[in-house]
Amino acid sequence: MSGTQPLKSKPPAQDAARKSEEAISVASALGNRSIVLVGLMGAGKTTVGRRLANRLDLPFRDADTEIEKAAGSNIADIFKEFGEAHFRDGEQRVIHRLLGEGPQVLATGGGAFMNPKTREATRENGISVWLKADLDVLMKRVSRRSHRPLLQNDDPEAVMKRLIDERYPIYATADLSIESKEGPHDAVVDEIVHALAIKLKCGGTET
Ligand code: S3P
Repeated sequence: MSGTQPLKSKPPAQDAARKSEEAISVASALGNRSIVLVGLMGAGKTTVGRRLANRLDLPFRDADTEIEKAAGSNIADIFKEFGEAHFRDGEQRVIHRLLGEGPQVLATGGGAFMNPKTREATRENGISVWLKADLDVLMKRVSRRSHRPLLQNDDPEAVMKRLIDERYPIYATADLSIESKEGPHDAVVDEIVHALAIKLKCGGTET
């Protein structure tokens, strides 16, 4: 949690006012930078990202959707027809372009931050936020949908375990780490905005 204090409860009106002030300060302190959400499949990057963008009054972009638009094809088909390496190339190019279009909230696919060039471009143009979740939460979420090519096999849980081992040390280099818990997404958004306010030194010490 990068040293943030837990949010204590306050009377609702006071709490809403503090949250909205914090959101305005964060959005203005960002300048042209993007908030880049990273984390494994099922971490909530898209769902939480949309709400975060809404809270900060910023545009929301989803890198996977932008890759699909650029390719004129969905991710499962790109993997099937051209292979993962081709997808990763396109992913790097699209994210690089998107990072030049901040400020915004940018949700990235789970593998994107593993690319050193993408990490470097993110450091230069954004603030990275790792949405961290436990295996059981991730599995519960990814099992609701079947569109992810990396999980189209007999043992998706084993794949997720391997990805946790490989990727968590890299995700941990993100600017902020926030736990993506079960429960209301708005609580995760609260945590992110509060941590950003502290990181960007624009308030956020009062909890
Ligand atoms: C991938 C995650 C997916 C998508 C692709 C590969 C990964 O995005 O980019 O299927 O390598 O973890 P989500 O994390 O949004 O599911």
